[in-house]
Amino acid sequence: MELETYSQIKTSVKRLLNIDLTYYKDEQMRRRLDSWLVRSGAPDWDDYFDRLRGDQHELSRFRDYLTINVSEFFRDLERWMALRGQVMPALLEQARKVHPLRPALRVWSAGCSIGAEIYSLAIMLDEMAPGSTHYLLATDLDRGVLLKARAHGPYSVDEIRNVNPQQRATYFEQTGAQYMLKDSLARRITFKEHNLLNDLYENAFDLIVCRNVIIYFTTEAKAELYKKFYQALRPGGILFLGGTEIIPRPGDIGFQNVGISFYRKGGQ
Ligand SMILES: C[S@@+](CC[C@H](N)C(=O)[O-])C[C@H]1O[C@@H](n2cnc3c(N)ncnc32)[C@H](O)[C@@H]1O
Repeated sequence: MELETYSQIKTSVKRLLNIDLTYYKDEQMRRRLDSWLVRSGAPDWDDYFDRLRGDQHELSRFRDYLTINVSEFFRDLERWMALRGQVMPALLEQARKVHPLRPALRVWSAGCSIGAEIYSLAIMLDEMAPGSTHYLLATDLDRGVLLKARAHGPYSVDEIRNVNPQQRATYFEQTGAQYMLKDSLARRITFKEHNLLNDLYENAFDLIVCRNVIIYFTTEAKAELYKKFYQALRPGGILFLGGTEIIPRPGDIGFQNVGISFYRKGGQ
């Protein structure tokens, strides 16, 4: 794809979808766009954007494609086991100093996609600290995925393959081959539309989970986000990243690497 074409696409995408592709890795995004155009059957981008303007359905398919929203419960199970075994107990211990019987955490799933990540956290916290009322925030820029997240399903067998049988029985209702998360758990989550690159962040989080989101961003955008996450955590709070998302020199920001994928904000 010519650079000039890419630059025109970026302008149209910003106008139509409010997504700024400048922050996404260039080469990867251009390859994805090329293959999308071929699949769409449109002769060129002008033609495709004309079609998009009058077709809400196609617009949302395009948005889904650009933002890559594949997700599942307890994705990358080994890391979630580390969260459960090594990270969460310390966070709950800290919270018990304030509320000994009902330790309450502030948790944010940033780039939550279909909600599988925040519901995994809700399940884990319900098992580890039953009866507590946590603040569980889940955000994404994609309205389409937030609809499914808010509706708490339906989820496919593949999406819940890492949910153990006991959790399935306790937290899900099965309808045919699909699974719905039970209302009682879903009600505990606050979902919001939020663009990590442009919008303001809430703060004082004990735990921020941002997995498989940052990989698509440029080095500069990543560096900016790590700083913003640092500010959004309380001292001693933890940032939980995806398997390939590594902060190059965490100490420069004030983070300490405390296990694969986990970064702790200093100060407590
Ligand atoms: C691959 S999914 C990851 C979902 C989940 N965190 C996981 O690991 O299973 C990436 C999500 O990031 C969202 N996303 C991409 N760019 C974003 C941005 N600038 N702000 C907020 N969310 C974004 C996408 O819409 C998508 O739902």
